[in-house]
Order: sequence, then C-alpha cells, then structure tokens
Amino acid sequence: MTLLDWQVAWQGALYGPDGFYRAASGPAGHFTTATHGALGEVLAGAVAQLARENGLTHVVDIGAGRGELLTHVAAADPALRLTGVDVVTRPESLDPAVEWHVTPGGRALPHELRDLDGALVFAHEWLDVVPCPVAEVDDDGVLRRVQVDVDTGQEALGPTVSGHDLTWAQTHWETSAPGSRVEVGLPRDLAWAELVSRVDRGVLVAVDYGHRGGDRPAGGTLAAYRRGQQVAPVPDGTCDLTAHVAMDTLDHDELLDQRTALRGLGVDGGTPAHELARRDPQGYLQALASSSAAAALTAPGGFGDFLWAVKRVG
Ligand SMILES: C[S@@+](CC[C@H](N)C(=O)[O-])C[C@H]1O[C@@H](n2cnc3c(N)ncnc32)[C@H](O)[C@@H]1O
Repeated sequence: MTLLDWQVAWQGALYGPDGFYRAASGPAGHFTTATHGALGEVLAGAVAQLARENGLTHVVDIGAGRGELLTHVAAADPALRLTGVDVVTRPESLDPAVEWHVTPGGRALPHELRDLDGALVFAHEWLDVVPCPVAEVDDDGVLRRVQVDVDTGQEALGPTVSGHDLTWAQTHWETSAPGSRVEVGLPRDLAWAELVSRVDRGVLVAVDYGHRGGDRPAGGTLAAYRRGQQVAPVPDGTCDLTAHVAMDTLDHDELLDQRTALRGLGVDGGTPAHELARRDPQGYLQALASSSAAAALTAPGGFGDFLWAVKRVG
C-alpha cells in the first residue's frame, strides 16, 4: 500500500513519466470535449471572433491536447497567429504554421511563454486537471487532507489542512459538516495568476465546469474517466482525474456562463431559414450542422453551463 497526499498522487498520475496525458492517444482518446468535431468548429469561430473584436492577432491555447481547437481556429481565420501548449511534443499532424510549447503539466507553464502582446489566451478545460488538495471534514469538524493508495484508490484522512490552503478554504469554501469535502482551489488560482502574468496586452479566458461561492458541491467533484467511461478515481496513470473549478476565485473581470458568452459572440443555435434549402442545399446542410452544434454548446444542463472567466490585461 502506497499512501500519498491526493494532490501529489494526482500530479504523478497525470504528468509523471508514464502519466495519463503523455499517452499517445491524447485526451480525445478518452473523452470528447467542445473543442472536437462540429462543436469545435463553432467554438473556434467564436474564439476567432473574440480575438477580432479585441484587436488581437495571436491565439494561444493552453492545454491544447493534440491541437484540435487550433486546427479549427486556423480554418476559421487563417490570418491569426496560433500557439499551442501541452505536455507532449508537437503533434505530427499539426499545421506547420502553428507554434508549439511543451510544458511539464499541472500548474507549471513553459518558461518561453511570456511577454505575450496582442494575445487571446484560451484555456479550455485546463484548470480542472491542475491537481489541488482534496480535503475532508473529520468527525471532530476539522478539515484534513485526504490521502490515497495509488494502487487501489482507497482513501484515508491525513494531516490537517493548514497555511494558505486553510485560508483559501475558510475564505471560499467554509464547511464544518463531518464528511463534507473541499477541493482547495489555491493551486488553480496560482496557476491562472501565473498565466495572467505572462501577458503584457491581451485577453485571457478560462473555460471550465465549475462552481461559484454559494454553489459549492458539498461532496466534492473529484472524478475519473477512461475511454469514455466514468471509473473510480485511482491515481495509477490509466485514467483522467479531474475536479470542478472554483471559477469565482480566479482573478477575473467577468464571469459568465458559456451560453451567454457564445451568444455575445454571435453563436445563437437558431435553425437556418428554410428558403436556403432550395437556393443552396449544401449550404443549408452545413448551416443546419452548425446550428445543432451551437445548440449543444449553449445547452442548459450541458456545455452551456460551463463558465468563462475573462481577464483583460493592458
Ligand atoms: C481535459 S484536457 C483538455 C484538452 C483540450 N483543451 C480540450 O478541451 O479538448 C486538459 C489538457 O491540459 C493539458 N495540460 C495540463 N497541464 C498543462 C499545462 N500546465 N500547460 C498546458 N497544458 C496542460 C493536458 O495535458 C491535457 O491535454
């Protein structure tokens, strides 16, 4: 039995030498996100629109997977400069015009990603895979760090939460009910703050499933996925490990749900005029596919409830 603090075990399981995100299959081999396929095309159109509206000429994708979103952005607006950042070396299939940086993963960002000027930095489902302390209130009402057996996922309560982690929990996720859990968001806040510090002039957007103060999930949200299935969280490198993000504690100017954000960028999900079907049957079918992708991206109870934290710099 090897008991480790969840945050440490999580970091090793995703980003260690044999970590989950280093596998050749990439995230898309295990789960679908809004950056893939028809949804990705529509999302990329909105990203390009956001860049144009803000006079930004460079799109930087943090947690770029294998370049799925950037490939769609290149098609949406070939004039944009594009940069991907992820833990693997540059995917071979990626358009040679796309720049690429390798990061150690988790909170860490590559040294060379700095002084960004005129950039839209888009982090889609990055922060939920930045490992954070998992804590649980014990029978005496004390918040303690949860430890995990890396082979079985069996948990045990460890030391009390202390220092800045405790301050974060007391400020943002107060609870004393025995058995309730807290995913301490401080490492995500710090990772985001570090990313913000790399931008001289631009807009940063973190998109994730998350919660705000007053809406914290009492039982915690730590979950694992493998090949499209939700599985028990075991930090052995064979599954994704993710926990919802406390989006309101990120440094931001605006926090809005994806439905509102995308509508503001012209993604409405309305069906195309039927008259188009006679005039341009192919165009009609394409418009229909886009409108159903737009509907999925803005759907209540689904992608539409994702949160966008927006930070403007300079
Ligand atoms: C949940 S996947 C999302 C991938 C893609 N953005 C999408 O939405 O389909 C998270 C991605 O973030 C990457 N990642 C983790 N830490 C990172 C870091 N510090 N910098 C850049 N990418 C990171 C992982 O390797 C993984 O590809």
